[in-house]
Amino acid sequence: MNKIILPLALLALLGAAPALAADGKALYAAKGCAACHGVDGARPIAGSPVLAGQNAVYLLRQMTEIADGTRSSAPVKVMKPVIEKTNPDERKALADWLATQKLGEAVAGDAAKAGIVGDAAKAAAGAELFEDNGCIGCHGADGAKPLADYPILAGQRRDYLATQIKAIRDEIRSTRRARLMVANVRQFKDVQVEQLAEFLSQSKRR
Ligand code: HEC
Ligand code: HEC
Repeated sequence: MNKIILPLALLALLGAAPALAADGKALYAAKGCAACHGVDGARPIAGSPVLAGQNAVYLLRQMTEIADGTRSSAPVKVMKPVIEKTNPDERKALADWLATQKLGEAVAGDAAKAGIVGDAAKAAAGAELFEDNGCIGCHGADGAKPLADYPILAGQRRDYLATQIKAIRDEIRSTRRARLMVANVRQFKDVQVEQLAEFLSQSKRR
């Protein structure tokens, strides 16, 4: 008798899990992601990235690498305890749902709220650096059309972009894929990193 009941109970469990995991929106709310990444991943607080409209494969890889400690630069430590409490199916559902969300005017709105006016000269210098240093080959024109599982940079928060370029340059964020671009950013001084971040944060996410 037990032999029959046990498989049935297991089946019931397995049947229930995917239904919950499929709902990225519900998971995003239940896991408390919005506290840092904002409504629909589109209105992050300072230091946290926009997730709305980002490449799903890239998002999933980051969640996995943050959870297992492969990506372990200092700022990401605040979300490790949160993402550790998700399983692979839940992460996939979160990534798929976030990738379909719209960024809208969220970042521009946040900059306006913070009283930061976009600096046109800085952005123009950044655009030139972006074109002259091979970034387009992997991230696409204006950082908006990356290779299959690489990140979209257009419309990302400026402070987050600058932190990442520095962390990759200094080999602090030193995952296997991040190392692919170290040679492209190694020569940049912080001033140039800020110019790149200014340009990319003003670029349109398509
Ligand atoms: C306490 C704040 C906080 C919470 C809660 C949080 N995150 Fe994060 N998250 C961050 C910060 C900060 C970073 C980036 C840190 C860095 O590397 O500079 C980040 C990075 C990420 C990245 C990588 C994005 C990229 O462009 O590389 C993903 C994906 C992500 N978070 C998803 C989530 C999901 C999904 C949840 C909920 C399960 C969540 N986060 C909860 C703060 C948070
Ligand atoms: C050879 C391909 C390649 C080139 C060239 C390249 N990148 Fe990257 N870049 C990547 C990959 C892959 C990642 C994601 C790494 C990971 O998965 O951890 C990345 C990540 C980033 C990130 C972090 C994005 C995020 O959401 O956290 C920024 C910012 C960035 N690149 C800027 C640049 C700039 C600026 C240049 C040119 C100076 C450049 N990249 C050149 C492949 C490249």
